[in-house]
Amino acid sequence: MKCTRCKAKAEVHLRAHNAGFCRPCYLEYFRRQVERAIARERMFTTEERLLVAVSGGKDSLALWDVLAELGYHTTGLYLGLGIGEYSDGSRAKVEAFAASRSLPLVVRSLSEEGPGLAVPDVATATRRAPCAACGAMKRHFFDAAAHEGDFDVLLTGHNLDDEAARLLGNVLRWQRDHLARQRPVLAPTHPKFVRKVKPLYLLSEYETAVYAFMRRIDYVVEECPNAEGATQLVYKDALNRLEAASPGTKLAFVKEFVRSAQPLFAERERDAPGDCQACGMPAYGALCSFCTLVREVEAKRARRAALAGLGV
Ligand code: AMP
Ligand code: FES
Ligand code: ZN
Repeated sequence: MKCTRCKAKAEVHLRAHNAGFCRPCYLEYFRRQVERAIARERMFTTEERLLVAVSGGKDSLALWDVLAELGYHTTGLYLGLGIGEYSDGSRAKVEAFAASRSLPLVVRSLSEEGPGLAVPDVATATRRAPCAACGAMKRHFFDAAAHEGDFDVLLTGHNLDDEAARLLGNVLRWQRDHLARQRPVLAPTHPKFVRKVKPLYLLSEYETAVYAFMRRIDYVVEECPNAEGATQLVYKDALNRLEAASPGTKLAFVKEFVRSAQPLFAERERDAPGDCQACGMPAYGALCSFCTLVREVEAKRARRAALAGLGV
């Protein structure tokens, strides 16, 4: 196959786009896709300060790489989740990436934020699935870091496969509140929130992997050990089969949802959050979901200490 742009020998074939690219043209194509998403959805400008949440995986590092290349003001944010070797390895990749490009990086670690706050400990103490506990903690610390650092925008590396799987899950259960908030740009609904954006929402996992490979980005290949058996992976698998039978399915599913169906759900968006009574961050009840988790962890520790005191 020949490159769709320059007719040289193609190295990548994108069936969903019915296109092929040589290496230089692929890199150009990828950058332009990101630029177009930023412009179309009015995500941010070159004047704004961007905080890019980087996990050490290919998507978020590819995102940071493209934005830095395009001349945006970026700072990375890595959150250490305390998931054993997986977390140690991903932190090292993020630090090496930032150092190699002289980009500023903020590192925070759950175990240093308070006792028992590493993801496995919170999951055990609250009897939640690790991914549920992890999601609530990430949201809280991403929001807090963006607010404290006075950033204008918080960015994540969610790709087309992530968004399609999430959309499928939300549609299968008709979770209208979730559908109301599933879009590539979320405007802040509270003074302590910043705008949240996902510039890679129309680029597939394969496309970001190819970009990361071509740019020689050294990323963590392993999935989080807790992801095994997660429902998201079942949805991703189902979508991959649909995509193989009918290329372009994922792109149409997400793109058309955002364009035509999402606005109908957005009308039902719930009221703006108030302030958490414990930490002052946005909350839909008396406490934000992070402080609710922390209370549960503390109660469990107090119970254990009391039982130990009784010699039980
Ligand atoms: P995931 O929830 O693991 O699919 O990750 C989705 C996005 O969240 C990634 O692309 C990153 O932008 C961000 N992210 C996930 N884990 C971390 C982390 N430990 N530190 C910083 N950002 C993260
Ligand atoms: Fe959060 Fe795996 S990344 S539980
Ligand atoms: Zn709180």
